[in-house]
Amino acid sequence: MPRVHSHPTRRRIYEILERSSVNDPVVHAVHLFLILLIAVNVTAVVLESVPSLQDAYGTPFLIIELVSGAIFTVEYAARLWCAPEYLPFHHMKPWRARMRWALHPQSVIDLVAVLPFYLAYWDVGGLRAFLLLRLFRFFKLARYSPGLASLAEAVYAERRALIACGVILMGAMLLAASAINLVERDVQPDKFGTIPEAMYWAIVTLTTVGYGDVVPVTALGRVIAALTAVAGLVMLALPVGIIASAFSREIHRRDFVVTWSMVARVPLFADLDADEIASVMQCLSSRSCTPGEVIVRKGDEAHSMYLIAAGDVEVVLPGENVHLGPGDFFGEMAVLKRRRRAATVRALTPCRLLVLDAGDLHDLLEGNPALAEHVHAVARSRGGETDR
Ligand code: CMP
Repeated sequence: MPRVHSHPTRRRIYEILERSSVNDPVVHAVHLFLILLIAVNVTAVVLESVPSLQDAYGTPFLIIELVSGAIFTVEYAARLWCAPEYLPFHHMKPWRARMRWALHPQSVIDLVAVLPFYLAYWDVGGLRAFLLLRLFRFFKLARYSPGLASLAEAVYAERRALIACGVILMGAMLLAASAINLVERDVQPDKFGTIPEAMYWAIVTLTTVGYGDVVPVTALGRVIAALTAVAGLVMLALPVGIIASAFSREIHRRDFVVTWSMVARVPLFADLDADEIASVMQCLSSRSCTPGEVIVRKGDEAHSMYLIAAGDVEVVLPGENVHLGPGDFFGEMAVLKRRRRAATVRALTPCRLLVLDAGDLHDLLEGNPALAEHVHAVARSRGGETDR
């Protein structure tokens, strides 16, 4: 695998911002500070909308906005500068790496979060309405919140089913609007005279909100309203159920959330492009270990290989124990050779491991000859003959 050459200052800033090490107090402090800053900023935006508070505390609100706007700008600039440190971008020219980084959804959120600062205080063409975008800063928390990231994963994983629900809901809305238009248009032409007008009633009824500002008055109209409300209940329960079960599956599948940057940092995946990393990410699950915990035991059946995201482990060997650290992998020998574990491996420090199932590992190696060559070479160097 190519050795990573990087700028030491840039590397350190990258590590601090992207949380490479779970045990680094500086990383924790910086992340905590950024999380607090986001929370204070969003609270200030909300409170600022109350005129009496705005009159009384205008200056503190302004100071919070100026300070956090400046810090978010520095943070964005620092992340952009560090983009070439991401392993998948290593082979790219720095400007290209930065462009790829800037197009990542999380980076777009970061950019949108700093824009209102400039639009408002430089007063670009009266774009004060863009101040609303300040609330967008809340989504910066996704980077630090495993729960939010899991929810986004769950929605993404179920996107087809959710789109299907949307299409069904749309169909029901059209049907209800047309039916009520047919029945009520002569009695209440101002409210149900056209299908678009009736659509407003249909969507308010289907979602079971029922403002009551537009109501059918004919008997048939009320039957249609009752059927629409019941259909709405059933149809809305569908996406809620889909998201809830996908969310709980996602939470249980993962000890901690495997993020794109976590996978991208693994040297084994250095030559994969961003799309390949995204697909490897789908196969990886995670596991946290406490010091002393046995991760694989000599002689056990092998079902997976492990990549160390953070922490240290030791391989217990007859002579001298071997230490492995972040970026290393183990458990490949038994999986490749389809035999039992050759040694016991236990955690030395708190560890975060990425777990790749045997089947997924074989698929991955089949599709990536260079990666397969590397894994087999490492296994051979560790004394395991491997079947190719
Ligand atoms: P596996 O046999 O699946 O499970 C135990 C793991 O320990 C093994 O795969 C290797 O990943 C690792 N291992 C075994 N021998 C060595 C060695 N000499 N050096 C480093 N790692 C090793």
